[in-house]
Amino acid sequence: MSGSNRFSLGGKVVLVTGASSGIGAHLARVAAQQGARVVLAARRQGHLAQVAEAIQAQGSEALAVSLDVTDRASVEAAFDTAQARFGVVDVVLNNAGIGNGQRALDLGEDDWRAMLATNLDGVWRVAQCAAQRLVQAGQRGSIVNVASMLGLRVGAGYSHYCTAKAGVIQLSKSLALELARYDIRVNAIAPGYFLTEMTDGYFDSDKGQQYVRSAIPLRRLGQLGELDGPFLLLASDAGSFMTGSVLAVDGGQLVSSL
Ligand code: NAI
Repeated sequence: MSGSNRFSLGGKVVLVTGASSGIGAHLARVAAQQGARVVLAARRQGHLAQVAEAIQAQGSEALAVSLDVTDRASVEAAFDTAQARFGVVDVVLNNAGIGNGQRALDLGEDDWRAMLATNLDGVWRVAQCAAQRLVQAGQRGSIVNVASMLGLRVGAGYSHYCTAKAGVIQLSKSLALELARYDIRVNAIAPGYFLTEMTDGYFDSDKGQQYVRSAIPLRRLGQLGELDGPFLLLASDAGSFMTGSVLAVDGGQLVSSL
């Protein structure tokens, strides 16, 4: 396969979870710009409607669907609605997540359960649902899971988050192995720090600024646009021989000096 447009998502149906804000809202727009029909899936319908309108204003097709990744019926219903409108979902950006920090000694059963339920179980549920439908339809596809550099290293106050994200990385590799025979690729992106609702506030503080200068080799936060290339590589045919890989997009933080 060759050609200059291998990053195109033309003719593809791309479903993005957690598309109501941050990385998900941004990459949904990027997918639409690359020709995809986009399914915006999240719980906050007001936010989703705004993202959908912005995409439609650019002349692309977008559908907002209600989705709670912790609920199997909700996930199935979202895929049903997407499929009825656009056909089988070809590409999934498994992005929905939560990120509240809490010291390991203070974590309650509910805190732990909520984190794993959203950030790990939710990713599994959405990936499995997408893969089952692709296999049933005899179609190839691509699943891109949003992990984190905290799935590869650890950070204080994030034992539950790090554990869930490490699980996402192992899940991505395991699914890549099992789904390769169906030409369904599964890869993970491991972002470093990007300014979104999840990280808002901390990086404006003196402490946050000092952290950025000392801990991130490129000495700055990531810009959302810096995820476009990694996402499109994994989602499109540009990455057609990539499966089971983990792309770090972190300003070098994973290779910072120990
Ligand atoms: P965000 O808070 O703006 O986006 C998360 C989205 O997931 C929101 O739209 C939220 O409503 C949605 N969501 C949460 N629980 C959900 C559920 N049960 N069902 C459906 N949707 C749900 O934050 P951000 O930063 O855009 O996060 C996106 C992903 O990127 C997350 O998985 C996060 O862990 C990951 N990430 C973010 C980093 C950052 O620096 N912002 C760094 C590394 C990873």
